[in-house]
Amino acid sequence: MSVDEARGLVYCPTGSASADFYGGDRIGKNLFANSLICLDARTGKRVWHFQFVHHDLWDRDLPAPPNLLTIRRNGQEIPAVSQTTKSGHVFVFNRVTGEPLFPIEERPYPSSDLAGESAWPTQPLPTKPAPFARQVFSFDIINDLSPDTLPDLQNQFVRIKPHIPFTPPSEQGTIIFPGYDGGGEWGGQAVDPNGILYVNSNEMPWILTMINAAEGDTNGERVYLQMCATCHGIDRSGTQIQGSPVPPVTLAALKEKQLDRQALSEKIQKGAGIMPPFGFLSSNDFNAVLNFLLKNGGGPTSENQNSNNEIVYVHTGYNRWKDAHGYPAVKPPWGTLNAINLNTGDYVWKTTLGEYPELIERGIPPTGTENYGGPIITAGGVLFIGASLDEQFRAFDMKTGKELFRYKLPAGAYSTPATYSVDGRQFIVTASGGGKMGTKNGDAYIAFALPH
Ligand code: HEC
Repeated sequence: MSVDEARGLVYCPTGSASADFYGGDRIGKNLFANSLICLDARTGKRVWHFQFVHHDLWDRDLPAPPNLLTIRRNGQEIPAVSQTTKSGHVFVFNRVTGEPLFPIEERPYPSSDLAGESAWPTQPLPTKPAPFARQVFSFDIINDLSPDTLPDLQNQFVRIKPHIPFTPPSEQGTIIFPGYDGGGEWGGQAVDPNGILYVNSNEMPWILTMINAAEGDTNGERVYLQMCATCHGIDRSGTQIQGSPVPPVTLAALKEKQLDRQALSEKIQKGAGIMPPFGFLSSNDFNAVLNFLLKNGGGPTSENQNSNNEIVYVHTGYNRWKDAHGYPAVKPPWGTLNAINLNTGDYVWKTTLGEYPELIERGIPPTGTENYGGPIITAGGVLFIGASLDEQFRAFDMKTGKELFRYKLPAGAYSTPATYSVDGRQFIVTASGGGKMGTKNGDAYIAFALPH
């Protein structure tokens, strides 16, 4: 939340209505989910509100607190509040009246083909500033940096639903782009008094697939019976092979061992003990057997229940779409840092954030990486940010976006730095905690200062 202390107004951004990806039991706009709500801080009375996503089906909760700033127009000063979204947009309002400072249009979007679902026919988008992340994942922006993985990505692409924003979740597979973690994410943004907003952003595609849990997945069952049942049993309750036990793979057993889709997928790909690796399965068969194991009771997604407590659709988990080398399925940039003038709605600069050393070595320009944790800015005109998967801590010139400094941390800094001063000397400190996206863990706080 953010507070305008002088006016006694508090700005509350809200999350999505539950369950995330199926809304058959919550038909309608679902106010006040996905909304910025301005309340009178003394009484709690609502002053104004704005809903950014109607009937959210994409996990588009508002990721970060809004920013309070002053906008200058025609010599006038307007008290404003800006809100960034996971979809990569910035909405700017007069913070007293709620009036948009750049026009917002309700645009039509596709309907859902899931039984019982009713996607809202329109969604609001600001006409300015331009989004700070790409909005459409089209065939021509499939990642072609690795010729060996390109055909695989292209084959996957043509099998799932063509992407346009707000394509509802589907059994065929729906691209979420930018992904569940933004666009804008929960590290928040920085604004300076001149009305410039600094926001870092991700451009990772994810694939959302829904399964009708009431119907069996016959293909998955076929794969299971052919490949797995001799060891794990036709009823999935486990067996003995040469005197050694083979564990059960019933939903209850998988749950008890907290094997989610990711862990299952790894186990089946790599094998274990006498279990052979099944990495050779086609991605269709591989997914089908995963779905088969996780359906009927929902696996990790059992929150997807309708009001009769009967599960209708389950989703197959939070799956980043990457190539076999671990790079995003979309062409770079994969992570950016943006400076946007909210007086005019124009970009001051935009740069990549983070890099992959092995790609730099191949002569590929910096791609950016996924990033978690926001920027801070100083009166001295310097922006500081960690966040990137390359575990670097960076300083940028706020005016130009030029990188001024970088420092390799003991582990990634997936949080927002802080600044403080002692005896007139200013420090910047960051938590080097690591642990995101397969990068190593750490437990250090690292502080920086200018030389005496
Ligand atoms: C040759 C016998 C064999 C076959 C075939 C086999 N498994 Fe396994 N599986 C095992 C054994 C043994 C383990 C336990 C391995 C260990 O952790 O040491 C295991 C473990 C697992 C686990 C982890 C369960 C747990 O409790 O840790 C899963 C999930 C699994 N198998 C799924 C499958 C699937 C899906 C298939 C078919 C695609 C399959 N297995 C085929 C023998 C087999």
